[in-house]
Amino acid sequence: MSEWKKICTLDEIPSLGARVVKSAQGDIAIFRTGNDEVFALHDHCPHKGGPLSQGIVAGKTVTCPMHGWKIGLDSGAAEAPDEGHASCLQVKVDEAGVVWLDIKQIVAVCAA
Ligand code: FES
Repeated sequence: MSEWKKICTLDEIPSLGARVVKSAQGDIAIFRTGNDEVFALHDHCPHKGGPLSQGIVAGKTVTCPMHGWKIGLDSGAAEAPDEGHASCLQVKVDEAGVVWLDIKQIVAVCAA
């Protein structure tokens, strides 16, 4: 069962960037693509914990600012040849442009 929490409006997330939301289990990065799609990952690179929220978004990937791993925003998976997953969360944008995060799934890890 989902438990949706209002986070912000779409306009409050920079295009091709991210907004950080604090949680009891660490920071969560809410990303916005150039097509205004929104994705949420724990702000913790699967390599050495770099802040993915400070990475560069291109298409549906973010490039970690620490060592350049590319992480899929929709899966949390590192692109080959790197291996690993960032934990991700369900996020949605309603018709009014409000961004909602499913805080029930805060520890979920996306499937590859
Ligand atoms: S910590 Fe992200 S690529 Fe190394």
